[in-house]
Amino acid sequence: MSEQEPNAERDGQEPTTSPAEKYDEYVMPITKGYDPFTVERASGTTMETTEGDQYLDCFSGISVTNAGHNNPEVVAAAKDQLDDLIHTCSYVYRNEPVADLAERIAEITPGDLQKTFFCNSGTEAVEGAIKLARKHTGSKEVVALEMAFHGRTLGSLALTGNHAYKHEMAPTMNDVVHAPAPYQFRSPYGDCSEEEFAARAAEELERVIGTHTSTDLAAVVLEPVMGEGGIVVPPKGYLKRVQEIAHDHGALLILDEVQTGYGRTGTMFASEQFDVEPDILTQAKGIADGLPLGAFTAPADIADSFEAGDHLSTFGGNPVCCAAALANIDALQDGIVENAAEQGEWLAERLADLEDEYDLVGETRGRGLMFGVELVGPLAEEDTDASDRDAGTAEGEPAKKAADAVKDYMREEHGVLVGVGGYHKNVIRFQPPLTITREELERAVGALEDGLRAVEA
Ligand SMILES: Cc1ncc(COP(=O)(O)O)c(C=O)c1O
Repeated sequence: MSEQEPNAERDGQEPTTSPAEKYDEYVMPITKGYDPFTVERASGTTMETTEGDQYLDCFSGISVTNAGHNNPEVVAAAKDQLDDLIHTCSYVYRNEPVADLAERIAEITPGDLQKTFFCNSGTEAVEGAIKLARKHTGSKEVVALEMAFHGRTLGSLALTGNHAYKHEMAPTMNDVVHAPAPYQFRSPYGDCSEEEFAARAAEELERVIGTHTSTDLAAVVLEPVMGEGGIVVPPKGYLKRVQEIAHDHGALLILDEVQTGYGRTGTMFASEQFDVEPDILTQAKGIADGLPLGAFTAPADIADSFEAGDHLSTFGGNPVCCAAALANIDALQDGIVENAAEQGEWLAERLADLEDEYDLVGETRGRGLMFGVELVGPLAEEDTDASDRDAGTAEGEPAKKAADAVKDYMREEHGVLVGVGGYHKNVIRFQPPLTITREELERAVGALEDGLRAVEA
């Protein structure tokens, strides 16, 4: 007879009941440490814990709840749809929310982008877009950028230009090469104007195509503004030039707007600000204000390269998520994107002042309500490992520990939540719900300054 399984209650022990204990026991340990609270409910820019503590959220669940947590119109639309129909598999039986959302996306995306495939997440959107580019061009190779992030499934991980996400789980998809990111703060080309930098970075990409591919190119894929890479804004003219290079090689330009889309940068899509119309545009995160939905959209002549059976997703185009997305787009267009642009302008100026005021602040950069504060300097030497230092910089070593310390200080002392990211993990990320008010932003920047002062001291 086998031995009895341990049972806490029968053995007279306290049962493990708290979410924290259950996470430890039953959830795979994929983050190194969760922030030390459990969220019970959220509304607008506020998250409330099971203990009743309230936090001002300036990270939006990694840039997702653009229309505010539990936006009432999104909630109402999802609830209505729940009563009627939860699932059809939209690739077997049509449903109305998919039809309406696809039409709406054609209206709000740039240029001729017209036909959409729906899936459930950003990484699926990116991988689907690569499949479409391969099918359309008949070619295989893909160029992505160093420092880029495109997701964690094996195809998207291959495109991600950061070893920190790969660990021992690479190699992944074949036929991917990486070109240097247009990251002017740590420019390898010395002091140069934005225009010169754009030209040099684009030349580098062309050199990588020439040296590392057989020029059997299906796509160049990049984020209009890098998110996980540290809120890196490309220089003017770069994206357009990259599209020309891609087209010269018979390849498509895929812009991954999973993080920048749906108002995050102060326009519905960041592409609009860089005067470029991608050949395929990927979306997720802010598309449905927190309900799981991903998508990629292409002009009809590209989209129609897919034939029956080429691609499918069981849950993709879920009617509840699509109904929520439609209400989300209404809400975003009804003043929320405008608010992101307006508050973003104020935030840009306010953060720029910090560059002179604090030694720790190397650069502040971003668009709309997607801003990064890159920390450098005195604490950095012992904080960074050798590979980080190898990056070399005239501007100061990346201050990773300082970034974590400032983030923790802001949470503990001010109840303000921000993210930390960047290739060197030294960038404080401001990506609040786009409904944030000036007063709340002032509070957040005040908390940041207090954190910088405390850590510098
Ligand atoms: C630009 C970009 N692409 C793709 C992804 C992957 O999205 P998901 O986590 O929904 O798979 C992310 C996630 O952070 C992202 O920022």
